[in-house]
Amino acid sequence: MSSAAPLPPMAPGALPLVGHSLAYRGDPLSFLLSLAARGPLVGMRLGPIDAYLLREPDDIERVLVTEHRRFWKDRMTRGLGRVLGDGLLTSEGDIWLRHRRLLAPAFHRERIAAYGNDMALAAERFALSLQPREVRDLHRDMMRLTLNIVAKALFDSDVDDRAADVARAINFVTDRFGDGLITLYPWVERLPLPDHRRLRDAIATLDDVLLGIVRERRARPRGGSDLLSMLLAAEDDAGRGLSDREMRDELMTLFLAGHETTALALSFAFVLLGRNPDIEARLCAEIDAVLGQDLPTTDTLARLPYARAVVLETLRLYPPAYAIGREAIEDLTLCGYRIPRGTQLWMAQYVNHRDARYFPEPERFLPDRWLGGLERALPRFAYYPFGGGPRICIGNQFSLLEATIVLATILRRFRVRLLDSSPLALDPLITLRPRGPIVVAYEPAPPPERELLRPAVSPS
Ligand code: HEM
Repeated sequence: MSSAAPLPPMAPGALPLVGHSLAYRGDPLSFLLSLAARGPLVGMRLGPIDAYLLREPDDIERVLVTEHRRFWKDRMTRGLGRVLGDGLLTSEGDIWLRHRRLLAPAFHRERIAAYGNDMALAAERFALSLQPREVRDLHRDMMRLTLNIVAKALFDSDVDDRAADVARAINFVTDRFGDGLITLYPWVERLPLPDHRRLRDAIATLDDVLLGIVRERRARPRGGSDLLSMLLAAEDDAGRGLSDREMRDELMTLFLAGHETTALALSFAFVLLGRNPDIEARLCAEIDAVLGQDLPTTDTLARLPYARAVVLETLRLYPPAYAIGREAIEDLTLCGYRIPRGTQLWMAQYVNHRDARYFPEPERFLPDRWLGGLERALPRFAYYPFGGGPRICIGNQFSLLEATIVLATILRRFRVRLLDSSPLALDPLITLRPRGPIVVAYEPAPPPERELLRPAVSPS
């Protein structure tokens, strides 16, 4: 590293002790956009942590791909280890590699194709359970649906009876960790406050459900090809399998990483469609023309290009993982600046996905932009809802399939009507969440579609 290179600049306005924490917490997304407007690498001070936002796609590629060995996950992500243990998202080095290799077969293309049917059946069951025009919280509905899908597809387990407990516990855990306080100051959790007792209870609830699934399966092996069966059968070269604790960490990671993100993508997609009736009408016409009376399958998706474009455009505007982070584990130079070991680097999908150089009229919801080969034309890290490099989301194909199948299945029967016309308020915690419920009514789809459709499953 050139010791003559300067340190990267810090945004103005840092206050003593708290730095930019108040401004950041007031409106994190605008704050990140304002950092990017200042330059390719600009810092903010969040209490005891200095973090630098990296803006240019090529620099992001260096960190995530070409020079990934010089980084590990940032401090905020590592803080999630309190809940996720040594699961894939938070582990590093040999543990991460061993587990990634063990889990990878469950996410191979052929395996994922087989999950398509379960996804469509779960969505159909959900649609059939709806009372027309009943007022509901869309986000809560999608959370429950995707939790059931991930549990069924990956663990061949039904959590429907405990879904509400699990969802509540997950919400609580992500809220507490998402505000960053416990991550920045881990000792805070030891303070005898009611919230911290609730946090421990929430983690205990999740442990209970997950260890219950593992124990039940160890007691009654099914020899299936779901992820849990694979993990139970997996052994390394020394003939060592995964302990209950390691299994718990991976299941917890997949539960957390694998259901909330897709639930958010679906919630945002329905909100955007509700606000753009022309786009919704075009999507429904495609679904009608291609599916007729049938449920979508992995094979029919190739014939739903507009549905895929709607999903990609939703993930552009509202990326559920709106920012990811890394810590430099050695001194280096980036964008001409000196990056000492220990520096926290952030990359924000929310910011990159709004770059007008790559996405003209960036704030508009325009699925059409994806129909002419844009994906191939963009620099690799202009659009990266699933990250990239060796730590790319293991569930990316799974969730694209899931989001498209669920959208198509629900739209065969219903249109989602938004009952609140105020702008969507966002709460960027660990993921980009809506602030409060998304109040909707499910309107039956207009005939003739409705009359043509026979239930493929009975409602739950
Ligand atoms: C729209 C849905 C999803 C989004 C936006 C998303 C986003 C991401 C991103 C950005 C990362 C990389 C984090 C980093 O580099 O620091 C990641 C990692 C991960 N995701 Fe996803 N994800 C989604 C769905 C899923 C699903 C469905 C699963 C599992 C069923 C899953 C499991 C994981 C796991 C285990 C990792 C860690 C991978 C590793 O480090 O080896 N995700 N996800």
